[in-house]
Amino acid sequence: MCEPVHKKFEVVRLVAIRKDVLAQLGKSQVVNLPKLWRTESDRAHQLFRSAQRIYCRSFPEEERESGRVVHGYINDEVAGENHPDSFNYLVAMKAGRVVGMSSFDVLTSGEIPLTFWGYVATAESVRRTGVATELVSAMVAESEAHCASVGSALRSFFLEVEKPDFSSDEMRNVARPAFHHTRSKAGAMIVVDHSGKPHLVYYAQPGMEQTASGRTASRVELLPVVSLVEAGVQVPFDIEPNTVIQSGRLVRLEGLPRLSTETALGIVKTIMGSYGETYDFAAKQIAAILRSVEKSLDRSRNGSVYVVPILDTRTLEFER
Ligand SMILES: CC(C)(COP(=O)(O)OP(=O)(O)OC[C@H]1O[C@@H](n2cnc3c(N)ncnc32)[C@H](O)[C@@H]1OP(=O)(O)O)[C@@H](O)C(=O)NCCC(=O)NCCS
Repeated sequence: MCEPVHKKFEVVRLVAIRKDVLAQLGKSQVVNLPKLWRTESDRAHQLFRSAQRIYCRSFPEEERESGRVVHGYINDEVAGENHPDSFNYLVAMKAGRVVGMSSFDVLTSGEIPLTFWGYVATAESVRRTGVATELVSAMVAESEAHCASVGSALRSFFLEVEKPDFSSDEMRNVARPAFHHTRSKAGAMIVVDHSGKPHLVYYAQPGMEQTASGRTASRVELLPVVSLVEAGVQVPFDIEPNTVIQSGRLVRLEGLPRLSTETALGIVKTIMGSYGETYDFAAKQIAAILRSVEKSLDRSRNGSVYVVPILDTRTLEFER
């Protein structure tokens, strides 16, 4: 789906010239591709190709799904084979130009109705002008509408995010955590044990490939990141990063959004259920991941899971 390298530079230069103009054009227009595909498939296909170019430039290859796979999700959604859950692919446009994308699944058939947010990416030339924030608002609205249409209430958004490390990777260590903190209102899940020590809730994405001999690829450890929704509104998140955990020690808890360990387990079960449906060969890994999640939730001294700024988790280890 990615453009060959020589073409990539042409596109970047063209968009860059228009940066100031694009930034001043006000709000983007956001369309949900599977819906558009039903009525205007040619146009939808064109927008998809442009959006996939932004997606390919924004994520390293190991974090991406192939264009063919994503196209398959859209086809299933258009054909109504994804009921009652829903795959969405939002495209943001300014002045007729595609400037951003976001994809997510609204999962209503699992234990806790939630949105499993896969990706958000904006064209480099329009970053820091609010386009991704507009995509978040559109995602909330689409998710609420879908849940309402099947008679359930949206409870949370769930994301898999790489834990910040101490490398110079600016996107991993600064931009993504800051964006999720300020705009997605999302943070990582931690529990506090009886001695007051904070622990990350263990989470892994099951290996999604299988070799000819039947071996499943290793699971990937990622941060479980959640944004809570109460009465149709995302729970505000007013805690400054680097104020909760310092050098692996807990400094404060008050004012953090929190959920019960039962709800946190229900959320992870819903996510694992969606992996299980798609990658049935990963069943063993999924069972092992759920056991590890349960073990880590059992550490909680008060039955609570706290939502903390992603940046605060840098010094915490993954523990199974
Ligand atoms: C992360 C990303 C989606 C943000 O898109 P965006 O269009 O710049 O986001 P918005 O303009 O709506 O929001 C900007 C806010 O996010 C935070 N932010 C975004 N980039 C930042 C950066 N480089 N440094 C610090 N904060 C940053 C800030 O809080 C910022 O608000 P401000 O501009 O008022 O300071 C974009 O950088 C991107 O596409 N990155 C590559 C793909 C990716 O990592 N996606 C996220 C993981 S799924």
